[in-house]
Parts: sequence; structure tokens; C-alpha cells
Amino acid sequence: FAVRAGQYDDELVKTANTIATKGKGILAMDESNATCGKRLESIGLENTEANRQAYRQLLVTTPDLGDYISGAILFEETLYQSTTDGRTMVDCLNANGILPGIKVDKGLVPLTGSNNESWCQGLDGLASRTAAYYKQGARFAKWRTVVSIPNGPSELAVTEAAWGLARYASICQDNGLSPIVEPEILLDGEHGIDRTLEVASKVWSKVFYFLAENNVLFEGILLKPSMVTPGAECKDRATPEQVAEYTLNMLKRRVPPAVPGIMFLSGGQSEVEATLNLNAMNQSPNPWHVSFSYARALQNSVLKTWKGQPENVEAAQKALLVRAKANSLAQLGKYSA
Ligand code: 13P
Repeated sequence: FAVRAGQYDDELVKTANTIATKGKGILAMDESNATCGKRLESIGLENTEANRQAYRQLLVTTPDLGDYISGAILFEETLYQSTTDGRTMVDCLNANGILPGIKVDKGLVPLTGSNNESWCQGLDGLASRTAAYYKQGARFAKWRTVVSIPNGPSELAVTEAAWGLARYASICQDNGLSPIVEPEILLDGEHGIDRTLEVASKVWSKVFYFLAENNVLFEGILLKPSMVTPGAECKDRATPEQVAEYTLNMLKRRVPPAVPGIMFLSGGQSEVEATLNLNAMNQSPNPWHVSFSYARALQNSVLKTWKGQPENVEAAQKALLVRAKANSLAQLGKYSA
């Protein structure tokens, strides 16, 4: 049988392991223009290119951010954007010791023939886009697809999500980008934690089946799973210890130790909740680097502090460092609220 040997294999492994450095995680700042607009609207700002630039500039120029953050995921606009004083955002990240990454999926659309579920677009032209992103300085990529528990999930939706992730991962590796594999299992719903465990186990078994079928190099990928929690509307809440136990059991049963890093999404958890859950997962050794790739759980306080005012930039950068440091400690299992 064919064993893949690609031109970028050594670099893919190095990139994934650099991101999975002890005490570090990922800053997800790759909101699409539409989602970034919602964040800006929440602090009374218009969704203009200048406002998105001002906000992203604040994030990437935060002094010492690289002490806690090893990679930052960008939206395409930011990968090609400069700061107001003419440095590229990519150079700012590199100067901070942070690897630039790029969101490469084209978002979700309805999956016909399913239970009102969705699928993720973006495979057409992905080889040439990833080659161009690599030239522009990106070294890793993200593709986020979703699975909804209240809507089924149907066999069709899970298969489509897993197959799309595997094709994306293979194309990225062929062009030098380490792929983050992200089948987000949405928090929405009244289901309990056991149902989430069941669905997550199903999703990850299919994802790894298709990753293997597509000859993806496991040592050169990163995962971005949802934590195994009760649905957002479930009355029975779970403690960080329960979330850690369920999530780690699921991962140990489904994810080979060849994968260097597990970088969780925050998925609508509060900042402190996301940090506490990560900390609980790092109370005992596990086969991978278990860390964070948070957007909202790193940015909520930053946005509220900044409010679009230049005089608040420094305070907002401090707020980012507070969350980044807390999650860095949680990666080491040493955080206390
Ligand atoms: P949240 O941490 O806000 O869930 O976002 C992470 C992310 O990048 C989802 O794709």
C-alpha cells in the first residue's frame, strides 16, 4: 500500500510541534468579515476595513504575546493586511515569535437531503489558494465544519464533515500548511453529556478513518475539538473535572498518539469556564499537548476594554495578556481562578 512521502513532511511536523509547545496555545482571530462585524457591533463600531484593521493590529502588536501564544489564525483579509504604520500583520506576528495561520474554508451552507444540517465549502481551488497563503507567510491552516446534535446528526452530515476535513488536510499538507482539523460539535441543545460523548466518538472515528484513507501525515496535523460537555440548554451542568474526564476518555479512545496537539475551541463557554476546563484536563499526563485555540474566550474582555478607542489599546492588550497567561497556566495544569 502507498505510504505518503511529501516534499513538506519535515516542515509540517516541525510546525505542528512548534505550535504544540509547552505552555502555549493558539489565538483564533480568523473571524470572517461577517462574524467580525458582529463582534464590532457589540461595542458600537461599524464593520469597516479600517475598524477590522485597528482591532487586528491591537491583537498582533500586543507586547510579549508570544510568551503564551505559539500561533494565530488569520482571516484572508488580515494575511494580506498591514498595520497603520505600514508593517504587515504577518511580520508583527513573526516578530512576536508567533506562527501565522489561515482560515481556508469558505463557510457553511445547507446540506441538501439532510436533517436541516450544513456542510462546509472550500475544496475547489484549495491547492492554489494554500500555495499562495504559504508564499504570503502562513504555516498552518484551519477548516471548521460543524455537527449539530439536536438536528440528528445524520450519517450523511457526519460522513460529509469527515470526508471534507480529510481532503482539506491532504491538500494543505501537499502545499506546506499544517492543517488544524476542526469538526465543531455545536453546544446548542438540551442533551446531556453522555449524548455529546456518543456523537463526538462517532465523529472522530469517521474523521480518523478518512484522514488515514487520504494518507494524511498524522504527525503534521493538529486537532481542534469541542470539549465534551452537556448541551447549552441542559439543566444538569458538569464540573470541570467531569468535562475533563469525558473529553479525555473520548480522545484516548479515538485519537492516535502520533497527533502532536489537541487545541480546543471555546465554543461559547465563558472565559473562565474555558480556562478551568483546560486546566482540569492537564492535571495528569496525557499522550498529546492539550491546549487552547480560543477566539471568544481570549477576546471577549479585550473587545469590552477596547471599545474602539485608541486610548484603550494598551489596557485591551493587557486584558489579552491576562487571558493568554491564564490559559498558558491551564495548559501546564497550574491555573487557579
Ligand atoms: P471559539 O473559541 O470562539 O469557539 O472560536 C474558536 C474557533 O476558531 C472556531 O472555529
